[in-house]
Formats: sequence, structure tokens, C-alpha cells
Amino acid sequence: MKALTANELRSLFLRFFQEKGHAVIPSASVIPENDPTVLFTTAGMHPLVPYLLGQKHPQGTRLTDVQKCIRTADIDEVGDMSHLTFFEMLGNWSLGDYFKKEMIPWSWEFLTSEEWLGIDKDKLAFTVFAGDSDCPRDEEAASLWRSCGVKEDHLFYLPKKHNWWGPAGITGPCGPDTEMFMIVKKPCGPKCGPDCSCGAYLEIWNDVFMQYNKQRDGSFIPLEQKNVDTGMGLERTICVLTGKGSVYETDLFENILAKIAELSGRNYGESPEITKSFRIIADHLRTATFILGDNRAVTPSNVDQGYILRRLIRRAVRFGMQIGLKEGFTAAIAEVICNQYKDVYPELEEHRSFVLEQLLLEEQRFQKTLKQGMKEFEKVLSSISATRGLIQSAADALRAGSPEAKNAAETAAAKLRPTPEMQEIIAELKAYVSGQSDSEILLDHLQKILEKLDTMDGRSAFKLYDTYGFPIEMTMELAAEHGLKIDKQDFDERFKKHQETSHAGAEQRFKGGLADSSEQTACLHTATHLLHAALRKVLGNDVHQNGSNITPERLRFDFTFGRKMTPEELKEVEDLVNEAIRAKVPVTLEEMTLAEAKASGAMGLFENKYGDRVKVYTMGSFSKEICGGPHASNTGDLVSFRIQKEESSSAGVRRIKAVIGRKPE
Ligand code: ALA
Repeated sequence: MKALTANELRSLFLRFFQEKGHAVIPSASVIPENDPTVLFTTAGMHPLVPYLLGQKHPQGTRLTDVQKCIRTADIDEVGDMSHLTFFEMLGNWSLGDYFKKEMIPWSWEFLTSEEWLGIDKDKLAFTVFAGDSDCPRDEEAASLWRSCGVKEDHLFYLPKKHNWWGPAGITGPCGPDTEMFMIVKKPCGPKCGPDCSCGAYLEIWNDVFMQYNKQRDGSFIPLEQKNVDTGMGLERTICVLTGKGSVYETDLFENILAKIAELSGRNYGESPEITKSFRIIADHLRTATFILGDNRAVTPSNVDQGYILRRLIRRAVRFGMQIGLKEGFTAAIAEVICNQYKDVYPELEEHRSFVLEQLLLEEQRFQKTLKQGMKEFEKVLSSISATRGLIQSAADALRAGSPEAKNAAETAAAKLRPTPEMQEIIAELKAYVSGQSDSEILLDHLQKILEKLDTMDGRSAFKLYDTYGFPIEMTMELAAEHGLKIDKQDFDERFKKHQETSHAGAEQRFKGGLADSSEQTACLHTATHLLHAALRKVLGNDVHQNGSNITPERLRFDFTFGRKMTPEELKEVEDLVNEAIRAKVPVTLEEMTLAEAKASGAMGLFENKYGDRVKVYTMGSFSKEICGGPHASNTGDLVSFRIQKEESSSAGVRRIKAVIGRKPE
């Protein structure tokens, strides 16, 4: 077995699949371009969904890549040995080309051959789908592993919970999988296996046999084209192959952790708390750097990807302060991250100054309020513990039946702050002191109040969010560190009210899957092309696309332009797009080389994206643009077009939000 570096594993993997006839494609963006159902790209297959569903990929039917992925569901777990919010996924795909009988022997070859990873065969274990009413037991996969030489006690049949992958959203391509594990220590007992949590078996690779399209009703319809989708997590596999205890101890984090040590004067490994802080800072700033450096489309904000970005940066700042990092540290660490990755992801070099500037801005915004916010938090904490103390001593005295009971009740009644939550109990304490109620009823109420006093009220949590910029998740984490919960329901109600008044929640995220939303998405995508062409006609050819995002409700288009558009210009652009819609021209697709596309006058936005052969979408004489699709088949499908808003996005960049009409059902 080879102790590989991340660079070595990336190139070995890509070379292996290149030798098997695969085209190497670049990583797609971490922000899904045409999938409004999720915030981030979570797997290598994600940007390829249209092709897994049958669209032709310009690079053919065998693809391989290293995809930037973000998964933030377990953000609170970051700091342990293995959780990361950003990771790279090595993958290869068959789009209706080869299937199990090629893929399984290839996986075996890559894992065990001395030319590739050279892992000792006895250290490997494999799982296959055990079968259920949706899909039969995968005997084919099992027998293919056996033919490779896998022994029975290294082969496990597991149910859907373990051996089924996808879809990435709610609907879409999915299927049974076979997973590959390394046995890193002695199994914990006779029942131990890859589904055991003792840590003896660590997964390194997953081959998914995508043969179904999951529907909204939960049923599975066979896909016309059978695909293979594989995924190998880079950080995790390096960690397992090098026998390191943690992903943070792989070569990918060496320079980042060293920088944190240099700036803070602390040492990684010094204590469990310091180690956790180092890991959180390294992970969160790495993810933030990749989000910002992707295509400059996302900046810290209170919605969608911008909110996740804000949370990551602010959480890193909070943990940074705990280990003594000084203002500006986020940018200094991001600098190291850009250097570390720039050869693999040149966009980080290209957007370096934007990344550093945005991190610094957000850090400064937060630093400004962090200290005051922490004071506010501590004030709430001490008020809760003072209240607890008063009520506890009154209750203790009542229970003991001591002559002091009345005194304790009197003190509590006088000192408790008369907040709405406390008014009733204060009145009861007073009633007891004046002899109007008995001690048992009072004791019972005091007990109930004490139970509730492990919770911070929603009003305080909302103030921390609204006035001091504390993401609610951060307040919850801080509270938990002091044994407190948050009244999340109350917070949510206040938050909702606030959103309704500020109209900030207007962009509801669509809850369906890509497959359902694809028609509307395609129409909005077509509208984006028409808008782009119209803007260039009205404002001149210096206008360039700077970013695009589609939800089922609207499109958003960022473009380079130095000033606010006039109402007349907006009207003219809108009219031009509506003219193209009324003309009902077919949207046609041609594949050609990049040189041919350029010669044809197509606008080239994604020039390097799909290598040499590109798709060109033409909409009559209105628009001709290089693009991956998908699109409406006719401009008439858009019904109508209306600009809702034109505003500044960042220096020299304007942003338009627009909607289209709905086709009658
Ligand atoms: N899509 C599969 C995964 O993410 C390969 O594990």
C-alpha cells in the first residue's frame, strides 16, 4: 500500500480512468448552476444529473473528474477526527456505456494492483445490495467480486440504508451500490462488519449502479440508460491510506494548521480544545475560500448560500478569538489555502483578492459586534443564573419547611426581574408571604419554573441575531456550552415576523427535485440567454455575464456594467426579450468545436468548461451562446418576461431579477 499525497492520488485516479477511455472534465462549480433544489454541489454526480437522465454529454459517455463538494448538514460535528464541510470527490461515470461487469474489476484493479494503490487484498472488504421489493439482491455484483478473488468473509450483503445511493435531491437518478472498505483494525466481534460503528471498517469508494429514476411519490422507474456513478472522497482516502488518525493530519491541512499555529502561538494537539479550534478554523475557512473563490457569485448574507458562508466565517472567527488569533487572520489563512490549491483549482488564484477582501470585510463586520454581543450573551446567562439562584433558594427553604421560608420568598419576590414570564410567580410569592396561599402550591410552581430555566428565551436569541449578527446556530452552540437550550420556536416566530416585514424571505426555495422543476428551469435558462443578448444590444458589448442563478420562481443575472440602468433602458431590454418570446422561434442545439463556435459568433461564457467540443444554443436571430443547457424548445414556452429589479451587486456589477409567465395547465 502506498502512502500517497493528495496530489498523487488525484493524478493516479484520473490517469487510471483516462487509460480506460474516460475524458477528464474539470470540476463544476460548488454552487449548482441550474438546480434550485439544493444550495451546494454535494457529490460528483450532481452537476451531471441531466446527462444521467439521458442528455448527450459533449465529452462522450465515459467521464472522470475531481469535484469540489460541500456538505454542511454536519457542520456542528466539525472539530472531531473526520468531519469536513468541504471535500473533493474523485469520480468516474458511464453514461449508458459500461456497467457492473467492467466497473467492479476496474475498482479491484485500481485498489489492489501495485501499479495503482496496491492495497493488501486481505485488508479490503466489500458490501453489495441485499435486495428488497424495489430492486433485487445484487448477486451479479457479489459474483463479480468473487471472481476478482474476494473471499466470502470479506463480502457483505446490506439493505437500502447502506447500499443504495441517491437521488441527490428528492427525485432523480439513483440505484443500488457496492461499497469498498479498508479494514484498519481488528473487528470488534463476530458480528462486526462494514455496518458496525466500531471504526474497524472505513469506506473509501462507492460504485453506484444508477438504473432508477425516483419519483415524487417514492416509486422507482427504471432509467432507459443504465449508468455508473462512483465516488471516492479524497481527504478520507488519503487519511486511510496513510494510516493517519484524522483527515486533518493529511498533507492537505499541513500548511493551513501551521499557519494557524504561527499566528496564534498555540500548537495543534496541545489540548483537546485547542485541537478542536484549529480544526474548525481550518475547515470553515477552507470551505469559505472555495465558496468565495468559485465564481464570485456568493458573498456573506442572510439568505441561502450567503448565510452558510456567513455562518462558516463567523464560527471560524469565534473559535479564532478563543485561541488568540488577531483581526485579519481569516484572510491570512485563506492566502495559504489559495496557495495550497491554486494549481488544481486555478479559480482560487484568479479570485484571490476577492476572496481575501470578502473574508476581511465579513470578519471586520463581525469583530465589531462580537465583543458587545458576547457581553449581551453573558448578561443573559447571568440573569438566568441569578433567577435560578433566587428560585432555587426559595424552593429549598419551602421544602425544608424552615422558618426562613417566608424570608426567602420575600427576597425572591423583591429581586426577581418582573419580565412577562416572571410576573405570575412573583405574584404567587407575594401571596405566600402575606399568608394568602399555602407552601405546597407555591413549591410546585417553583419546581416547574426551575425546569424551564434551562432555556434561553427567543427574544434574547433574536436580539443576538438581529443586533449583534450572531447566527442562531452559533447562539445555540454557545448556549449548549453553558448547559442551556434556546427557545427555538419563539426565535423562529420572531424571525418569521421580521422576514415578513423586511420581505427578505421572498425567495422561497423550491422543495421538489430537479426532474420536476426542469421544465421551468429550462425556460428560465432560455430567458437568461435572451436577457443577456438584449442587455448587450441596449447597453453595448462591454456587458458580460458575471453570474447566473435560477430558482423555479425567478432568474437572477449579474453582469458587468458601471452604473444604474435607466427606466427607459430597462423597458427596452424587457421589450426585446418579449419580442423574442412572441416570435416563438425554436431553440436549436448544435455541437461543434470551440473554434467553430467562436467563428459562428456565439457568445462564449463557459469556454473552458467542457473542453474542445461545445454545445451552441441558437434562438433565431436573438441569441447564440455556448452553454451546457438545458433549454426550452421554443422561446414561446416562456409566455412573457418581466424585470422585477435592477440593483448593484458589487463594484462594477449590476444584478437583474426577472420572472417569466406560466404556461396554462
Ligand atoms: N454519488 C456517490 C456518492 O456520493 C458515488 O457516494
